[in-house]
Amino acid sequence: MGKSLKSCLRFLLVLNILIHGWNHAFVSAQSTPFPAVVFIGASQSDVGVNNNVPNSLARANFLPYGRDFVNGNQTGPTGRFSNGKILPDFVAQNISLPFPPPYNSPSARGAAVLQGINTASAGSGWLNGTNSNLGVVPGTQQVQWVRNWQQSLVGLVGTSRASRIVREALYGINTSDNDLLAYYGSTTLQQQYTEDEYIKLILDTAVPNIRNLYSGGARRFAVTSVSARGCAPNEITRYQPTMRDQCVQGLQDLVQKYNTAYKATIQSLQSSLQGSKFYFADTFTITVDLFFNPGKYGLRHDTSIACCGTGTFEVGPTCNSLSVGTCTSAADYLFFDSEHYTQAAWSIIVGTFIADLIRSLM
Ligand SMILES: *[C@@H]1O[C@H](CO)[C@@H](O)[C@H](O)[C@H]1NC(C)=O
Ligand SMILES: *[C@@H]1O[C@H](CO)[C@@H](O)[C@H](O)[C@H]1NC(C)=O
Ligand SMILES: *[C@@H]1O[C@H](CO)[C@@H](O)[C@H](O)[C@H]1NC(C)=O
Ligand SMILES: *[C@@H]1O[C@H](CO)[C@@H](O)[C@H](O)[C@H]1NC(C)=O
Repeated sequence: MGKSLKSCLRFLLVLNILIHGWNHAFVSAQSTPFPAVVFIGASQSDVGVNNNVPNSLARANFLPYGRDFVNGNQTGPTGRFSNGKILPDFVAQNISLPFPPPYNSPSARGAAVLQGINTASAGSGWLNGTNSNLGVVPGTQQVQWVRNWQQSLVGLVGTSRASRIVREALYGINTSDNDLLAYYGSTTLQQQYTEDEYIKLILDTAVPNIRNLYSGGARRFAVTSVSARGCAPNEITRYQPTMRDQCVQGLQDLVQKYNTAYKATIQSLQSSLQGSKFYFADTFTITVDLFFNPGKYGLRHDTSIACCGTGTFEVGPTCNSLSVGTCTSAADYLFFDSEHYTQAAWSIIVGTFIADLIRSLM
């Protein structure tokens, strides 16, 4: 071997080490377990989708919503049903990803979608019929949007990088509670279906949709249970206004029955979809505990009263800058409006499962 060839090889070796060392340092400096995050859901996850749904009535893009929201240079109302950050924000923040844009917004273009999208639409459920009169995007349509996103990546970064992003992304699924609330409040639905039949109807819609995401390449799923919806101030006002210190038991029972069936369905999906990983985030217990023992978590206000207005019924359009009685410090409250948690509560709720979620899906 000639001397010049030898030194040339040595040079390449050194260069190689330098590049790999650099890559390694670079990757670990901003290490995230997932290249992208996608959210499908309803109002607990809506970051502005309904702002772009013509004539939607389920919106929160006005004060006092968003009054404590800060994300880089973005502040104020965005469409989030809270005073500040919500579920998907705390999840994205924890895995060191930017907050993905609402799928149907003008900002969801090009490089802005490489690290994910959010299709969650307030008021929606798995079922097309749930709140269809309010102008919402149902779960099946959201899954179509996610399929479109999966395909759009190919044009942005090429086949091999696109398939890696799709495969390693976290798919957060946070929907069902509006389906249950619709049933609990409708004698028509109750006459049409027993509880068990209705739960089966929801899951028979959820399953092909999740399979559809898998067909598009998705492998890592986090599915949330429904929380203690019977403890929401609005449900208490509607079903038992004179018993504010208790949760609505019939609704709590329905939610628990649903969560049990949902969890079993998710477990069987994991065993039938080869290479998939599912995490089921059970948030029922923590949200009951927050209601009955707020002091344990640093919350100081009666949990059956929300921050916005009287705290007993205001939500969406009825929670606005003219609402009388809105609290000054939402950090003391469990609920910001009569159906949705405060930023303080979301931080606590996500904190109970996020580490477990990451560990389970790695
Ligand atoms: C806000 O920050 C983003 C980048 O994070 C930047 O693209 C945008 O121009 C900034 N907007 C303003 C008004 O400063
Ligand atoms: C993520 O959450 C865990 C558990 O709550 C916490 O210990 C950790 O500091 C969080 N990481 C980030 C980057 O927010
Ligand atoms: C729900 O709506 C979607 C279109 O968004 C449609 O493809 C699907 O068939 C509908 N599902 C049912 C059960 O009607
Ligand atoms: C979304 O997830 C949160 C946290 O698990 C839960 O409180 C809420 O009920 C879920 N919402 C829906 C629509 O499933």
